[in-house]
Amino acid sequence: MQKGTPQRTGAVWLLDSGIGGLTISRAIRRRLPGLVQHYLADSAAFPYGDLSGDALIERVCDLISRVVAHCPVDAVVIACNTASTVVLPALRERLSVPVVGVVPAIRPAAAASASGVIGVLATPGTVRSAHVATLIERFAGHCRVLTVGAPNLAALAEQYWYDGTLDRQALARELAPLRAAEWRSLDQLVLGCTHYPLLREVIAAQLGDHVSLIDSGDAVARRLEAVLAAPGLKQGASAGGCFYTTGGPRDGTDLAARIRAEGFREISRIDLISSV
Ligand code: DGL
Repeated sequence: MQKGTPQRTGAVWLLDSGIGGLTISRAIRRRLPGLVQHYLADSAAFPYGDLSGDALIERVCDLISRVVAHCPVDAVVIACNTASTVVLPALRERLSVPVVGVVPAIRPAAAASASGVIGVLATPGTVRSAHVATLIERFAGHCRVLTVGAPNLAALAEQYWYDGTLDRQALARELAPLRAAEWRSLDQLVLGCTHYPLLREVIAAQLGDHVSLIDSGDAVARRLEAVLAAPGLKQGASAGGCFYTTGGPRDGTDLAARIRAEGFREISRIDLISSV
């Protein structure tokens, strides 16, 4: 190896405001089972949608710089649409490893639409972002694009993942715009928040079989594979990394069992990161 060339670790860091990024982790694990994934759930700052752009940039850059210094990796994945829409340029300037972000799957949805009507369901911040406006302009000019910014849907998805409970009334409020008349000819719905695939069946049930739900998991996994360009990672037995959270424990939740079921080894170093 050349002097100054960083040694390959076969590992990556994923970050989300909570457990939504696990939907990205699952897609990466399917495509690159030999890759070690470490996961940072910044639950103390959930939801990221409530932070200003500047606060989000500062927080994510600070957290990621520290965890990468503590545990070097080959790449970082910002497994959160809300963060990806604002932090990527600043983070790329700070890090020497590649950074992969998530963008709402507007391009494939527009390409697949037969009716010419697509929907984007995301956090209010993502829906309002210049980034989404640019994606719509570049890739969905031939479509009618309906958008919904759902303020509490990510929190409902968190609860559902942690203990399997779902506040049906709150869910109905979040998804009410999808029942408006103009949504009837929709045939593609973009799940523009990494939490939402955790509620895929519930959301699909509101829309009917004629609507396909598209998330960004496979696209991120493909992009990461191209960035890492390390063929050995396609084989392997789902190498488990560690799961870290900046948040405290949740009552009545066996987090250790839940995260082991997602393919992670342990959460034992939780205190290390909570002091970041
Ligand atoms: N998973 C984040 C996203 O993809 C959740 C949103 C939030 O924390 O506000 O946008």
